[in-house]
Amino acid sequence: MDRIAEFQHIINKLLKEQNFKRSPEALYAPIDYVMSQGGKRLRPMLTLLACDIFDGNIQNALYPALAIEVFHNFTLVHDDIMDKAPMRRGLETVYKKWNSDIAILSGDTMFAMAYQFAVKTDPALIPDILDVFSKTAIEVCEGQQLDMDFEQLELVTIENYLRMITLKTAVLLGASLKIGALTAYADKKAVEEMYEFGINLGIAFQLQDDLLDVYGQEDKFGKKNGGDIVSNKKTYLYLKARELANEQQNATLKELYANSSSDAEVKIKKVTDIFNELNIKEEVSKVMSDYYAKSLHHLEKSSADPVKLSLLKSFANQLYTRSH
Ligand code: IPE
Ligand code: IPE
Ligand code: MG
Ligand code: MG
Ligand code: MG
Repeated sequence: MDRIAEFQHIINKLLKEQNFKRSPEALYAPIDYVMSQGGKRLRPMLTLLACDIFDGNIQNALYPALAIEVFHNFTLVHDDIMDKAPMRRGLETVYKKWNSDIAILSGDTMFAMAYQFAVKTDPALIPDILDVFSKTAIEVCEGQQLDMDFEQLELVTIENYLRMITLKTAVLLGASLKIGALTAYADKKAVEEMYEFGINLGIAFQLQDDLLDVYGQEDKFGKKNGGDIVSNKKTYLYLKARELANEQQNATLKELYANSSSDAEVKIKKVTDIFNELNIKEEVSKVMSDYYAKSLHHLEKSSADPVKLSLLKSFANQLYTRSH
């Protein structure tokens, strides 16, 4: 088994060992549902890989990695309420299957559980891990608020969009890597380079998520296509389209995003047609590859063992070519 498969196995095993089916059932059944659905398990993988490339003891990284995955799943449960998303990982979202009250409370429980897991490590590491964890959790909320605020605005700058996705998505990838490096007692500079690797990788990752929201294959991606368009999300696709559009296209986009009553499928089709006319897919791919290259640059500066470092590189590469 290669190292990546080995770590995936370790994470899945640890997840399986957890008993999320507790009482009251209405509170815990959704937690068990979400945690056993799969998902890419990207963030805990980053934690274990980051620990490993600095020759750390994986045992110290295991529960912090689990904490991050539980936290991530909590954000998804609440995000689906905010985004009114009916489907995730090919299944009904929690608030659809149950209801919003249950989704809120199950999510809250998961957030607290994440802290319980985060401190199951070498006690000497706990203060640093909790610092990173709490700071990151607050930033994710800030990013999520900006994401919703932007729904109400006609336009936002690309700079503000990048700040928003850095907060809602990239900081958690950064934190996953940083916590992994911390559990290996890597030096300060190495820890910071890993964080920057994660931030840039995370920006590329969210750009790709925005792209897949429009162009992904629903059965692979597991989420309903066009959700961002229906919710008037100011994604890079939309903002770049507004920048490149002619007068007619601009007027159409502006009108479609100002009017919440238009038929969802018609709106998705009209917007996608304009994205296609403007080659938006290529535009996003270009900027994605820039951030990806930037991330690898930081990874290389982390002065980790070159052989092990190539493992993280190939893992990042897999993400880059993902379809879900
Ligand atoms: C989804 O994250 C939320 C984003 C930040 C885009 P993932 O794409 O990692 O979701 P799962 O856990 O694999 O389902
Ligand atoms: C997700 O952004 C960020 C967080 C959940 C914090 P999205 O809203 O784009 O994620 P998906 O597409 O629903 O997974
Ligand atoms: Mg969202
Ligand atoms: Mg969403
Ligand atoms: Mg998305």
